[in-house]
Amino acid sequence: MPVPVPDALEVVSLADDPAVEQPAEALVVRCWPEFMRHSVVAGEWFDPLFARFPELQVALRRREDGAVVGWANTVPVPWDGTDAGLPDAGWDWAISVGVARGRAGAGALSALQAVVDPDLRGRGLAGVLLGQMHLLAGRLGLGDLVAPVRPTAKAADPLGPMEPYARRTRPDGAPADPWLRAHWRLGGRVVRVAPRSFGVRGSLAEWRRWTGLALDRPGPHAVPGAIAPVVVDRDAGVASYVEPNVWMHHPVRAG
Ligand SMILES: CC(C)(COP(=O)(O)OP(=O)(O)OC[C@H]1O[C@@H](n2cnc3c(N)ncnc32)[C@H](O)[C@@H]1OP(=O)(O)O)[C@@H](O)C(=O)NCCC(=O)NCCS
Repeated sequence: MPVPVPDALEVVSLADDPAVEQPAEALVVRCWPEFMRHSVVAGEWFDPLFARFPELQVALRRREDGAVVGWANTVPVPWDGTDAGLPDAGWDWAISVGVARGRAGAGALSALQAVVDPDLRGRGLAGVLLGQMHLLAGRLGLGDLVAPVRPTAKAADPLGPMEPYARRTRPDGAPADPWLRAHWRLGGRVVRVAPRSFGVRGSLAEWRRWTGLALDRPGPHAVPGAIAPVVVDRDAGVASYVEPNVWMHHPVRAG
């Protein structure tokens, strides 16, 4: 589904201009809570992703001043077209298997990340990024876009279960969560919850530094920006965050 790009912006991939990587990374830092940037899997696979698929990483760049105001990352994945073929390991699976396998045997393009400048949210720019993902899939001749989606408003209830949250709809049938809804508007449907999609594990000292919280009670904690509990193991001196995401599937017009 074509989504028009506002005249004030241009779409630039990492292949078009490698110089977008640095401002895009600065945008990412502004968009995520600190703890989200300490996934071992992300740390291992983002650089190989950029090296192998620079044409699949796209920025929205403001023509006037060159500022990067949106950034989207994607990777081809060996999806077999079945619901069960979208694994429990969600995001971690998509980036690791997608980069390692490459184009060979790819059945779909997977979204990995979409971020929009906090000052420019609520204007449909996320939809523009999703539209670009459709175009990228089409260019690869892939008829499907899949996404291990992180429902943004789940952060209001990090201790609650994901399954009922993901299925919650408004009276018009649209997903209640705004980010799931943005996918739905472009033809995405909720397939299933990926219960172990993304994770962060660290020492209690690290988690205290990342969150500014004392975290001195064992068990689950609600941490700002988290969509699942951060679980403290005092005996081991560590805390773990296992984030469920929601697999969505968009049919894409190939071409
Ligand atoms: C998720 C994100 C990309 C959405 O970007 P966006 O450009 O604001 O999205 P849109 O303008 O297309 O809005 C999508 C929905 O969110 C709602 N929304 C977005 N920003 C909002 C804000 N500041 N206040 C209220 N509602 C907002 C919009 O109203 C819209 O819902 P609608 O169906 O009622 O219109 C952006 O919030 C972001 O970068 N978040 C941090 C990173 C993240 O969570 N990325 C997604 C997982 S990878």
